[in-house]
Amino acid sequence: RMKMRVSDALASKETGTNVRIQGWVRSVRPQKDNLFLNVNDGSSLQPLQVVAGSHLNTRDLTFGCAVDITGTLEKSPSKKQNVELQAQRIEVVGECNPVDFPFKIKERHSLEYVRQFPHLRCRTNAFSSLLRIRSEASAAIQSFFRDNSYLQIHTPVITSNDCEGAGELFQVKPAGDKNDSDDPNPHFFSVPAYLTVSGQLHLEVMAGAFSAVYTFGPTFRAENSQSRRHLAEFYMVEAEIAFTESLDDLMKDQVDLMLKRKFNIISYTEAIDILKSSSQNFTFSTEWGCDLQTEHEKFLVKHCGNVPVFVINYPYELKPFYARDNQDQPKHTAAAVDLLVPEVGELCGGSLREERLELLSQRLAHAGLKDTYEWYLQLREFGSVPHGGFGMGFERYLLCILGLHNIKDVIPFARFSHSCLL
Ligand code: 4AD
Ligand code: MG
Repeated sequence: RMKMRVSDALASKETGTNVRIQGWVRSVRPQKDNLFLNVNDGSSLQPLQVVAGSHLNTRDLTFGCAVDITGTLEKSPSKKQNVELQAQRIEVVGECNPVDFPFKIKERHSLEYVRQFPHLRCRTNAFSSLLRIRSEASAAIQSFFRDNSYLQIHTPVITSNDCEGAGELFQVKPAGDKNDSDDPNPHFFSVPAYLTVSGQLHLEVMAGAFSAVYTFGPTFRAENSQSRRHLAEFYMVEAEIAFTESLDDLMKDQVDLMLKRKFNIISYTEAIDILKSSSQNFTFSTEWGCDLQTEHEKFLVKHCGNVPVFVINYPYELKPFYARDNQDQPKHTAAAVDLLVPEVGELCGGSLREERLELLSQRLAHAGLKDTYEWYLQLREFGSVPHGGFGMGFERYLLCILGLHNIKDVIPFARFSHSCLL
């Protein structure tokens, strides 16, 4: 008997074929003479309808149980599917006690409820559909970069640098007795090492040889936040492009990647003016020089017609050492750009990078980072070119396209402050 995945069975044009299907029971509908089951192995969005005659023992067939079924594929009388499986033999491979199983057959469970079961929530329709979309979105992003001649770089997860300079690093060190107990501050084989907060600096290295590069991988931030848009481990899509001479070039790359609709561009200074002249009472300061908070970002997006908004030219002091100096006065800014979107707030962060040796050298010296970033400075000595890049939080992107509100609902296994289940 031919073993078949549900997707292939559903696409089968031949009826009368003997097949063997393995999967999980997604619904059970007893009728007068037959029992109707929906079975899926996850290969298809649509389940396969299985008809079990009264001669079969169907007692243990419950929602969620695993089955191994042989039978013949027949043309289905229902318009919902082409074929259905007339079962000759049904074996329950793994029982599923309906009393203990947290999901009930006809109930619609909330995202909050299913979040309590990270090991089981992929069995629900909503979450499994979401993971399918996540997988498709990831593939689409990869194809975009491929089609546009970007080279994919696997940037390291373990690194010695704090790219963003925000001190939100998780340190990497051996556990237990592999630790050198004499060392009060144990390290990664005697050198300091951290989980990456951004692959940007490594991408800058590669942009110096391949011009257009990207990375798409896990990123870690020791942000002690319970917010609905922060994770301690999230996926970031980062691109770095050599010969990028203006923020307009950089925004064009972002628009090509993800914005198929109207958007706005305002400067940070304009953003501050808008916030100050509004009648809303903000919790956080709106003085020039302050970082924009979620409440500010949401207000700005609404103010600009509820479309995505690029905010450009942030205060120089707010941005990390790599951001390109606009050398303007009296309001000193750097060529950085954030993309804010409705509901979510900040979706992307990017900048032109300081490619001028002298200016970068001064800034690193000022921050006491010249030794740490000697190699980074050297990139400016050997064929330095204007360049820039950006990073997009993949989970925030998913919130955006799905219209969801909690970032914990769009990642297979969420890690956040005080929570690392599984
Ligand atoms: O704005 P960020 O910190 O920018 C960078 O890391 C740059 N080095 C990127 C670059 O230019 N290559 O982070 C980029 C994006 C944010 O806009 C946000 O969407 C997402 O990453 N992000 C988070 N997503 C989920 N949880 C967190 N804790 C996040 N922190 C940042
Ligand atoms: Mg940012």
